[in-house]
Amino acid sequence: MSTFFAPGRVNLIGEHTDYNGGFVFPCALDMGTTLTITSNSDRVLRFRSANMPEVVEVSIDEAFQPLPNRLWANYPLGCIALLSKKIGGLPCGYDMVFEGNVPQGAGLSSSASIEVVTAFAFNELLHAGLTRTQIAQLAQECEHRYAGVNCGIMDQFVSSWGKANHAIYLNCETLEFDYVPVRMDGISIVLTNSHSPHKLDAGTYNERVRECEQAVAMISKKLPIRRLAELTTDAFNKVEHTLTDPTIHRRARHVVSECERTRQAVRALQSGDIVTFGQLMNASHCSLRDDYEVTGHNLDLLAETAWQVEGVLGSRMTGGGFGGCTVSLVRNEHIPAFRRIVGQRYKDETGIDAEFYVAKIGNGVSEIQG
Ligand code: GLA
Repeated sequence: MSTFFAPGRVNLIGEHTDYNGGFVFPCALDMGTTLTITSNSDRVLRFRSANMPEVVEVSIDEAFQPLPNRLWANYPLGCIALLSKKIGGLPCGYDMVFEGNVPQGAGLSSSASIEVVTAFAFNELLHAGLTRTQIAQLAQECEHRYAGVNCGIMDQFVSSWGKANHAIYLNCETLEFDYVPVRMDGISIVLTNSHSPHKLDAGTYNERVRECEQAVAMISKKLPIRRLAELTTDAFNKVEHTLTDPTIHRRARHVVSECERTRQAVRALQSGDIVTFGQLMNASHCSLRDDYEVTGHNLDLLAETAWQVEGVLGSRMTGGGFGGCTVSLVRNEHIPAFRRIVGQRYKDETGIDAEFYVAKIGNGVSEIQG
């Protein structure tokens, strides 16, 4: 029996930039998914979850097709399928139990933690020799092919490479990255779960991916680029007139400005300027609200209320958007008032109880018991 753990993540800034070849700045959480595996002689993959009732069985002698009805087991199945293909098949069946403590639908990458823990575990058990970056890439491919979401690399990458007390400044084009210490004396990263029923579904996410591709195609008539993140703000100003569709124009403006904000935010954090970092987080939220249109009423309410609370340095939506969480930087002595004021206003306006977590920045995937 072997046990593995992979974390969820919170992105501090750099949203919807990863699939545009831009920068992101996420950290791994101490919440995630634990996977316990034993081999079996039944020649089946048996998926159990401590969080879901159904047990899913798939024969290892059949082609690993995606399961119908968007079953959660598609995440691990897809990773095993892709890995098995690389190494020419599985030697036996396996019984797996998954147990997660990342709140689902909260935009904290519970699905990436399932994918990465599976890919890492099978890479170890089958001696497949993948690096952490290759594990992240395989998990991303699984998300595309088995969950139908054409996501970027951020979530899987940070779940793979995360480091306690550090954020990852990742160039999503080259996959080069730096660990940046997150030292903010007297300030905490507070996650607020909107428990909002309106999740970012695959359709809306993939629509944004397509809109960015359309922007690249329009701009390329004037200036050959492959990805929006190749444009500096100055370069964008010179070519933005090619974006004749106003929606596409706003989408591209978000990506270019968010890449710039991410660069500035990392510089600010490195020089200990948390005030500037917080202001850039607020500006990021506004851009995601007005230009990228992925926030929605409930996340706007959480962020905009937080901006008014004493001791809040910055607050924004984090992750894909619509439902899910905001991430806020809050001075420790103001956290109780923050919870009370934001929680009450949110309850009054939506009828929903928000939930608050003080984030701890954890490590990437590992074996915890061999
Ligand atoms: C989701 C995707 C990521 C990234 C974010 C938005 O979490 O899985 O790849 O695009 O949305 O920044």
